[in-house]
Amino acid sequence: MTTTLDTAAVPLTIDDATADLLFREARTVKRFTDEEVTDEHIAAAYDLMRWGPTSMNISPLRYLVVRGTEAKDRLCAYTMEGNHAGIHAAPLTLVLAADLDFHVHMDRLAPHAPGIGDHFASQPALADSMGRMNATLQAGYFITALRAAGLQVGPMGISDAEGLDADLFAGTAWKSLFIVNVGHAVADVEGATHPRAARLESHEVSRVL
Ligand SMILES: Cc1cc2nc3c(=O)[nH]c(=O)nc-3n(C[C@H](O)[C@H](O)[C@H](O)COP(=O)(O)O)c2cc1C
Repeated sequence: MTTTLDTAAVPLTIDDATADLLFREARTVKRFTDEEVTDEHIAAAYDLMRWGPTSMNISPLRYLVVRGTEAKDRLCAYTMEGNHAGIHAAPLTLVLAADLDFHVHMDRLAPHAPGIGDHFASQPALADSMGRMNATLQAGYFITALRAAGLQVGPMGISDAEGLDADLFAGTAWKSLFIVNVGHAVADVEGATHPRAARLESHEVSRVL
């Protein structure tokens, strides 16, 4: 494909306001109001996110809720200094992680595949690659679900994932992926978002066999 396709000819099954909220107008946010984000807000987003597909329904995403200056300082030790102001600006930060021990839930998650949990437990390299890939997929669903729950997000990287895991996830098989600052965006404030950058066109990123 080399030319722009006429997507206007294909009606969406969601209304324009929803398409804008979830995708076209959704922005990465760096400045937030003081308005509280409760555990219920996050759980409401999780309740949407969890229905997104994963390989064999392994559902490996886990999240740590980080609130308050002391906890945020502990988290900041594992992130780049340039991200610290954004982390502290948010009422809440999520650390998204892949649980490489996802096999313990497989009897419940995949009753159609008896013994599959033992299979993953005996193959740590497979569990690692499947766990990280599927948890990252779920992390993308989570961002969209948080937006559907009326929240704004600012995803950020982790500079010392091993250090973070050894500290915050000690005694578990959780492996951190990235963090997401969550809150309500401050409207029309300098620095709240970057200027919107372009996205690639479908014909630039696809081929047809
Ligand atoms: C996994 C991930 C890691 C990111 N890491 C950082 C980061 O470390 N610092 C930062 O300021 N922004 C970070 N971002 C934000 C991206 O730069 C931003 O989402 C992207 O440019 C799109 O911006 P927009 O949603 O406003 O269009 C990250 C985003 C994602 C999804």
